[in-house]
Amino acid sequence: MYAPLEATYVRKVERLRNGERPRVLDLFAGCGGLSLGLHAAGFDIAAAVENDPAAARSHGTNFHEAAPEHLRPRDVLTPPDAFSRELGLGPAAHAFDVIVGGPPCQAFARVGRSKLREIHDHPQAFLHDPRARLFREWLRYVEACQPLAVLMENVPDVLNHGCPAGTKARGLSP
Ligand SMILES: C[S@@+](CC[C@H](N)C(=O)[O-])C[C@H]1O[C@@H](n2cnc3c(N)ncnc32)[C@H](O)[C@@H]1O
Repeated sequence: MYAPLEATYVRKVERLRNGERPRVLDLFAGCGGLSLGLHAAGFDIAAAVENDPAAARSHGTNFHEAAPEHLRPRDVLTPPDAFSRELGLGPAAHAFDVIVGGPPCQAFARVGRSKLREIHDHPQAFLHDPRARLFREWLRYVEACQPLAVLMENVPDVLNHGCPAGTKARGLSP
């Protein structure tokens, strides 16, 4: 059960008013490109989710002085509360002020779509690539963590997955 929305926001705004740095959760963090920019801008990189072992290790080394719990690769399918408690950050709804991330873009980007067509020898292979649905897990984290701000980075063609540019996206329903 998530904490009541309003009380959670008020508590987070109070923290920032008291001069504390906004705590960022970086989902699909890679080795930390987005994290680096936010860190330079004064944000606290509180945690990251990245399933590639080498990238997760780099992120943990870059932003958490190689603390073992931050070096581990994790899948975005990890439940948000289990994730934040495992890092000693308490319930997910209390742990983060900002959620950022760049979900995989292979099924959206023109070059990625063309590669997927080639690999699977099918004109619509990109519509069936499971990575196209991972942004939903990003949204699940937003719902659970109740951040004050979000930032999602992706390619422009994320807006026309399966239909001409400028028209409504399809192929992403559950
Ligand atoms: C577009 S890159 C992110 C780049 C990153 N934001 C940066 O600034 O460097 C997407 C990342 O998502 C990771 N990824 C893909 N599937 C994942 C999953 N199921 N769980 C966690 N991370 C995943 C990939 O390993 C890759 O590093």
